[in-house]
Amino acid sequence: MNQPVMNGVTAVEAPSYVKHQKLISWVAEIAALTKPDSIYWCDGSEEEYNRLCALMVEGGTMKKLNPEKRPNSYLACSDPSDVARVEDRTFICTDNKEDAGPTNNWMAPAEMRATMNGLFDGAMRGRTMYVVPFSMGPLGSPIAHIGVELSDSPYVAVNMRIMTRMGRAVYEVLGSDGEFVPCVHTVGAPLEPGQKDVAWPCNPTKYIVHYPQTREIWSYGSGYGGNALLGKKCFALRIASNMGREEGWLAEHMLILGVENPEGKKHYVAAAFPSACGKTNFAMLIPPAGFEGWKVTTIGDDIAWIKPGADGRLYAINPEAGYFGVAPGTNSDTNYNCMASLKDNTIFTNVALTDDGDVWWEGMTKEPPAHLIDWQGKDWTPAIGKETGRKAAHPNARFTVSATSNPVLDPSWDDPAGVPISAFIFGGRRSTTVPLVTEARDWVEGVYMAATMGSETTAAATGQQGVVRRDPFAMLPFAGYNMSEYFQHWLEIGEKLSATGATLPRIYCVNWFRTDENGRFVWPGFGDNMRVLKWMLERIEGKASEGVEHLFGVTPRYEDMHWDGLEFGRDKYEKITSIDNSAWEDELKLHSELFDKLKHKLPPALEAAKGKLEQRLKA
Ligand code: OXD
Ligand code: MN
Repeated sequence: MNQPVMNGVTAVEAPSYVKHQKLISWVAEIAALTKPDSIYWCDGSEEEYNRLCALMVEGGTMKKLNPEKRPNSYLACSDPSDVARVEDRTFICTDNKEDAGPTNNWMAPAEMRATMNGLFDGAMRGRTMYVVPFSMGPLGSPIAHIGVELSDSPYVAVNMRIMTRMGRAVYEVLGSDGEFVPCVHTVGAPLEPGQKDVAWPCNPTKYIVHYPQTREIWSYGSGYGGNALLGKKCFALRIASNMGREEGWLAEHMLILGVENPEGKKHYVAAAFPSACGKTNFAMLIPPAGFEGWKVTTIGDDIAWIKPGADGRLYAINPEAGYFGVAPGTNSDTNYNCMASLKDNTIFTNVALTDDGDVWWEGMTKEPPAHLIDWQGKDWTPAIGKETGRKAAHPNARFTVSATSNPVLDPSWDDPAGVPISAFIFGGRRSTTVPLVTEARDWVEGVYMAATMGSETTAAATGQQGVVRRDPFAMLPFAGYNMSEYFQHWLEIGEKLSATGATLPRIYCVNWFRTDENGRFVWPGFGDNMRVLKWMLERIEGKASEGVEHLFGVTPRYEDMHWDGLEFGRDKYEKITSIDNSAWEDELKLHSELFDKLKHKLPPALEAAKGKLEQRLKA
């Protein structure tokens, strides 16, 4: 131990391997404000993980699952008021409101700091403050960045160990003066002396606050997911999108997968879908019958950091080290590799508990077990579920599991250099209008497709579900600055790369979710999405046919797709690829509404792309 630090409450010492004076002073400063009972410096060891989990089992936050069913795994159940990201409580605090843009909540930094200082004053009383050092991306990678989260939640500390490269080694990279993003988090539930804690402390008041200019994050009142695991959405998307804009790279809400054909030719693609639209499933796809010899491997399932390389190509890393995925709907048919990843060493949040100490969620098996304890700790039977409509697992229930548990993890997933990207795929959940797959004719058209993406909402965020909302680049809740400037940044990256003579990644728009007259999905999805991927790769390699050019771009004809192993007639294909002009007239009105909202600084190139679409529609 060295550097004794007085925080006004307790004298603390930083471990001797922490050499960064600025970091130590900041820890002392935050401790003086939040007044925890003690400070604990996480080292990221397995012993520490087990100890913190045991502490939470003792305190009632987690249950240890039956080691014979689910070795070394836990179930945590949150307060019913703290189950998802709170977008309406998420703020981007820049000096000028227009720098946050019309899609973000804004408050002036000074005003927000005053509010935060009030809320954080004494907020950690009666609790331990955990110092959680983490690297987003492979330690020491030129694409990676470091953060330190101060949190009074041990649940955060153990989840961060799975979701990031967390622990002692980070201090070696940081040295005595390395850069880090300071992240401050409290559940906002101080304890009076002798007051008994609750299983899931949180506060009805919530604030998820970002200061992009000083690259700081402050989060108050929630212990859940992206609200509390600050490396994920807050750092790796909202703050990192600002870093990327300043430094000429991209921080995106994208999975990254590798796909290799039977001849051993491999490509990497990055795909953006809004929350809970199947990114994890796509990233772990198993090629279906008819695709013998093809392999799909995962680099990441949620976030990509992408930088131009010296050769003019774009190289991507997954800044995360684990998956915080949606459990309901996941089963061995829809995502075999995911289920295999979850067989041990997993933290489950808000799923149901079986009588033999294992977990269950809606969609895990066809028949639910005869009896469960639901995510709120109540008895649940299929009859109760039917009668009350109550789900056994919360629709946004999650698993936290290390990437290294994934049986199809790509061998390059931890490569500091990243992997070269051959295509970008954008997709939303749309029951009508948008075809199965469309290739953009050029970069600008692709940026337009991504900018105008819409999707029917899901349970990943609070708010009404099932309504179409525009979700540009699947970044609506995550772009940390003005959305129109974010579009401009994408256009500029394209311009800069093509000026070097580089071949840009192709851009595709996909939609797995078109329904028939009975509201049923027409496309089988999951493994069969491989058929779409194969067509894309053939286009990239210049092997596929021309496809059909339509107003929105280029879509394969029925005969351009590989149908071995699947009976899927032309009539069905027509249902999911047809362009309905009147639906597109309505769609374009919605694009106009979006552009109207974003008109300040909207790149003229996107207005022009819309103009072309309108002309084609009239022709
Ligand atoms: C997530 C989300 O948790 O997008 O990944 O909500
Ligand atoms: Mn996500």
